[in-house]
Amino acid sequence: MKTIVVYASKYGSTETYARWIAEALHADLYAVKALSSETLSRYDCILYGGGLYAGGVKGLSTFLKKYASILPKTFILFTCGIADPNDPANVQHIRNSLKKIFPPDLEAQTAFFHLRGRLNYRKLSVMHRAMMAMLQHMLAKKDPATLRVEDQQLLDTYGNDVNFIDRSTIQPILSFVQDGINAK
Ligand SMILES: Cc1cc2nc3c(=O)[nH]c(=O)nc-3n(C[C@H](O)[C@H](O)[C@H](O)COP(=O)(O)O)c2cc1C
Repeated sequence: MKTIVVYASKYGSTETYARWIAEALHADLYAVKALSSETLSRYDCILYGGGLYAGGVKGLSTFLKKYASILPKTFILFTCGIADPNDPANVQHIRNSLKKIFPPDLEAQTAFFHLRGRLNYRKLSVMHRAMMAMLQHMLAKKDPATLRVEDQQLLDTYGNDVNFIDRSTIQPILSFVQDGINAK
């Protein structure tokens, strides 16, 4: 299978994972901005990875609007966020927001994976710093007993460099693609 890994990354976490995945699968690697229909139509396995921002996946809405009609049978989406994907509630939250932008038939044939990234407050843009400050302010006013684990973690780590990037977590994605190749 000719495979491409496409990514949309603001601070580099998703790009790091995309690079590792492309390397392991001997796939081509493209930033979403450098992509065209002509390029994409050459592949029969497409992986899209995007950073999570306020529940949405970076670049995905535009990507789907432009390319949903030419996506092949094997389409894999991976997200990269700071929330723990081992908590089913976090994954459910992501899947709910994806439902809003995915054509239903495409959603049914897509494989979803969720990876954990890095949040370094010192590197954030002014806008993102302000968004995180607002969130922190809002959470700090709540009764600590009512906070979700994620929210408490955000309060505990606010302002720091929080890094969960882990190469071994791409293994299920690699196995999924490799099993598909072996089945052909
Ligand atoms: C403004 C802002 C909003 C974010 N929203 C989410 C979110 O909704 N869910 C999540 O898991 N992580 C969220 N994050 C954390 C990012 O997804 C995380 O830093 C990720 O590694 C970024 O990927 P990138 O470096 O490829 O851009 C947010 C970070 C910022 C700065």
